[in-house]
Amino acid sequence: MPSTAVIGLQWGDEGKGKIIDSLSAEADMIVRFAGGNNAGHTVHVGSEKYVLHLIPGGILHEGKQNIIGRGVVVNLDALIEEIDGLEERGVPVSERLFIDGRVHLIFPYHCQLDGLAESGRGKAKIGTTGRGIGPAYSDKVSRTGIRLADALNAETFAELLANAMQEKNNFMRKVYGVEPENQEGLLEKTLAQVERLRPLVVDGGAMVRKAHADGKRILFEGAQGLMLDLDAGTYPFVTSSWTGLAGVSGGAGFPPNRIDRALAVSKAYCTRVGSGPFPSELDNAVGQQLRDQGNEYGATTGRPRRCGWFDAVQARYACSLNGLDGVFLTNLDVLSGFEELAVCVAYRFEDGTETTEFPGDLSCLSKITPVYQSMPGWSEDITAARSLEELPETCRAYVAFLEEQMQTTITTLSVGPGRDQLFECEPAGAPA
Ligand code: GDP
Ligand code: IMO
Ligand code: MG
Repeated sequence: MPSTAVIGLQWGDEGKGKIIDSLSAEADMIVRFAGGNNAGHTVHVGSEKYVLHLIPGGILHEGKQNIIGRGVVVNLDALIEEIDGLEERGVPVSERLFIDGRVHLIFPYHCQLDGLAESGRGKAKIGTTGRGIGPAYSDKVSRTGIRLADALNAETFAELLANAMQEKNNFMRKVYGVEPENQEGLLEKTLAQVERLRPLVVDGGAMVRKAHADGKRILFEGAQGLMLDLDAGTYPFVTSSWTGLAGVSGGAGFPPNRIDRALAVSKAYCTRVGSGPFPSELDNAVGQQLRDQGNEYGATTGRPRRCGWFDAVQARYACSLNGLDGVFLTNLDVLSGFEELAVCVAYRFEDGTETTEFPGDLSCLSKITPVYQSMPGWSEDITAARSLEELPETCRAYVAFLEEQMQTTITTLSVGPGRDQLFECEPAGAPA
């Protein structure tokens, strides 16, 4: 795999952590290209469980270079906590991690503003993770953000931070009538954190382009999912970055025409955390059964995930937008024990007409009714299966149906959270 991008196909939490960890074994460099510590990527290694938020999923593998790409927004408290947590568990993070100096930093005022904006939205709240992601990306786009590289020079940084704090403090006091929090000693604390990280700061784009030119195998790690993408997702109930293939180039500093293979991770059903449209949501006992069997609680915030049937309209949209070469289908084991399964194959409007295209208009999405194709389920535990042949016939038929609906090859099946609970069923599209 000269260069492979892996993205989330749905609303996040598809199992990217597990898949990236697995693919990392065959990569030389793993580059995270978007999002921040809103992400929670779970990796199980034997009885050990790791939840990664900012650090790429290749970190648990010896001899791999991991880069936090320039498209990521970084909260230094969160990054340092994550580094320390892994080092305490024996992972030599500083030997394996690099951070692009162009990453934008998240400060306490971003987190506070995130919370204030959410309270102001009332019923229309997005249900953000409260990690300051939206306000930090807003500053980046407004050209008032502060980058890690800017903080390498104490004098420049002191001036930038003072200006930013003055602006944010004014805004919080005048617009929200609240006092800014957690600002005491922010300059000194940040300078000390940056000093500690200085040896890891690189030009990530230059590093990845050089590695690629040298024939190294690069893995681009996505965060969130396509339906949370700022442009392609269910706006405004999205995150503030480009989560799909289109985000790789900008977020990693790598030419788009050098990405050889695009793969995505999808659950065998759907989940969503936070508010916003979710056409196949099951707000009932079946949804609760999915939540219980899949242990569907957020890896970052612990919130119960909303659960629903697989949505082929959404999945086909996401596949076609990203020109995917293959899909990893995860959590197939969670569906064991359902007598009947359903797959959403179209959306029906109030006037009785149907569409198989994912609509961009939110008001229209809120009025549609899902049209389901039901399929027989299976009762067997499939967590020990390691080939297609070991799966019950109805399970294979379900996978084949999803593949047909997505018009994209399902290359790999995941039947449990463990590293070994994964097997290939068809080779992914050959690299160009
Ligand atoms: P990510 O954000 O895409 O990395 O996904 P999360 O880590 O937030 O959530 C996925 C959850 O599903 C984690 O708890 C994983 O350990 C778990 N998981 C991954 N693959 C499988 C699978 O095939 N079966 C089951 N039962 N759990 C899985
Ligand atoms: P991973 O990488 C699931 C959701 C939040 C909220 C919306 C905006 O683990 O798949 P934000 O804090 O980004 O401004 O919140 O996006 N969200 C995620 N949901 N998995 C994630 O990441 C998410 N990152 C953000 O719940 O609805
Ligand atoms: Mg997650």
